[in-house]
Amino acid sequence: MIRSNVSTLPMKDRLRQIPSLKAPLPDCDPLALPDTPQDAFALWLDDALEAGVREPHAMTLSTVDENGWPDARVLILKNVDHRGWHFAVKAESPKGRQLDNEPQVALTFYWPALGRQVRLRGPAIVLSVKDCADDFLGRPVSSRVSAIASRQSEVLEEGEGLESRIAEAQALIAANPGYVSPGWRVYAVAPTVAEFWQGASDRNHKRLRYVVCGDGSAWERSVLWP
Ligand SMILES: Cc1cc2nc3c(=O)[nH]c(=O)nc-3n(C[C@H](O)[C@H](O)[C@H](O)COP(=O)(O)O)c2cc1C
Repeated sequence: MIRSNVSTLPMKDRLRQIPSLKAPLPDCDPLALPDTPQDAFALWLDDALEAGVREPHAMTLSTVDENGWPDARVLILKNVDHRGWHFAVKAESPKGRQLDNEPQVALTFYWPALGRQVRLRGPAIVLSVKDCADDFLGRPVSSRVSAIASRQSEVLEEGEGLESRIAEAQALIAANPGYVSPGWRVYAVAPTVAEFWQGASDRNHKRLRYVVCGDGSAWERSVLWP
């Protein structure tokens, strides 16, 4: 497709023209946030939904590979409870292997309509076989088929039989509706540090950091410089 409206401006100027953290954004008293990051997250998720943020449960999972190189990708948040923030992966995928090798991760949410960011850091722990199975079986059939059939992130050579692998996975599930892919893992990230960031048009951003104390049941809260 030939586009007629391609900008001729240098990239630097094009980028400078794009607004960021444009008013109106909510004001925030950081110390008025709840005592735990779980409760603060629940509050801000409701605000994001009310503000019409699309896919507010999409987050960036950052990992490191066996060489210590960072990697990051967007995933969907599955749950938040006393164990942490949950997500599901295929164990054989690059992120699955990276998690096996190094469980320390970061999760990042960005909700543009509100100018808000949530950052979490901590270990990702695999949940029980039952939790993984329940999550797998709770997915729509097409998602289960894809999870079984896909060699996620490997090079897909032409004629390699993606369709036939999908057909095989469909047949497997049709014959055995309770089938659970053995490589399906649900992880919970129990953060040791969490930060709630409210952007402001005048750049006087408001930030609250939670650091876990002692046995993990209490949090120390600090307001950070913008
Ligand atoms: C909005 C959005 C949601 C996504 N959700 C998932 C997800 O829940 N699980 C998943 O494996 N990949 C999801 N992806 C794709 C991942 O970002 C990534 O491309 C894929 O998991 C391969 O990652 P890896 O090569 O690091 O293993 C999503 C991508 C986007 C943009």
